[in-house]
Amino acid sequence: MSPATIVNDLPLPTNIPESHQTPANTSHNALFTLAGKVVVITGGGRGLGIALAGAVLEAGGHVVCLDILKEPAAEEWAALQKMAKQFNLEATYRKRRRAVEVMDEIDADATRVGAQFHGVVACAGIQQRIPAVDYPQADFERIQELMSLHGARIMIKNGVRGSIVMIASMSGQIANRGLTCSAYNTSKAAVQQMCRSLAQEWGQHGIRINTLSPGYIRTAMTDELLTAAPEIEKIWMAGALLGRLGAPEDFKAPAIFLLSAGSSFMTGADLRVDGGHCASA
Ligand SMILES: NC(=O)c1ccc[n+]([C@@H]2O[C@H](COP(=O)([O-])OP(=O)(O)OC[C@H]3O[C@@H](n4cnc5c(N)ncnc54)[C@H](O)[C@@H]3O)[C@@H](O)[C@H]2O)c1
Repeated sequence: MSPATIVNDLPLPTNIPESHQTPANTSHNALFTLAGKVVVITGGGRGLGIALAGAVLEAGGHVVCLDILKEPAAEEWAALQKMAKQFNLEATYRKRRRAVEVMDEIDADATRVGAQFHGVVACAGIQQRIPAVDYPQADFERIQELMSLHGARIMIKNGVRGSIVMIASMSGQIANRGLTCSAYNTSKAAVQQMCRSLAQEWGQHGIRINTLSPGYIRTAMTDELLTAAPEIEKIWMAGALLGRLGAPEDFKAPAIFLLSAGSSFMTGADLRVDGGHCASA
């Protein structure tokens, strides 16, 4: 069948509210604000997640960090609390429980502070260097876990045109030289495809979903890896076109862009931020 004869007989969504479009005269600040909104960050107990929580506060939003850790990283959390107080915003931490329960509670809290449950950044992740043939099935399933679905359920119920950002990785598109992490990479490719599929389902509700795909970042996750195998850093640096690995702060502006009205015509897309790594062979 030639492309010209392919007929899409599915009805196009007709009920997308017009206000989903950004008005032509919207100011630069209004494009990037999260004022009056609550954003949930899974994996927000340390690393990239806690850095992005700071970015949400800086953009004027309340933030809820969810993690499996008993407590968030002490130093970063103290700094986050200080910032929240200074901006008169809330930054709360919850130890992860059943997704539906915890998301419903957060929705109720959002109403209490007069804000809207607007966004989810799915930043939870585990990196494991295990040869594919030795991979335990339970771990493979654990690595794929996601909270975004329950966030979207609440947005649909509340009629909110929110935004979901799933942290994928450049490893969703490339195989990392020197690493045996097939399950991790497969899960990241699955996240990217899940994003496209969910964008197709949720566009009719005005909910946007995109992936943010980092290259190598110095966090506790990669520190553990580089301590165990220091020779890997040389391989990573060979692809670092800007002469450095990433820092969590490099992802603050891209995440706020994806969460805010600035990206209101963007859904089902992947934003790769990798210091040029994938651009060279
Ligand atoms: N560090 C990198 O180089 C790099 C590169 C590309 C993508 N990423 C991705 O960025 C995200 C954050 O990575 P990081 O480097 O900050 O790692 P990190 O290990 O420092 O932080 C990940 C956090 O996720 C939490 N977590 C794990 N499973 C969870 C679950 N089921 N529910 C809730 N929380 C859970 C962990 O407890 C941890 O606090 C991950 O998705 C990772 O795959 C990282």
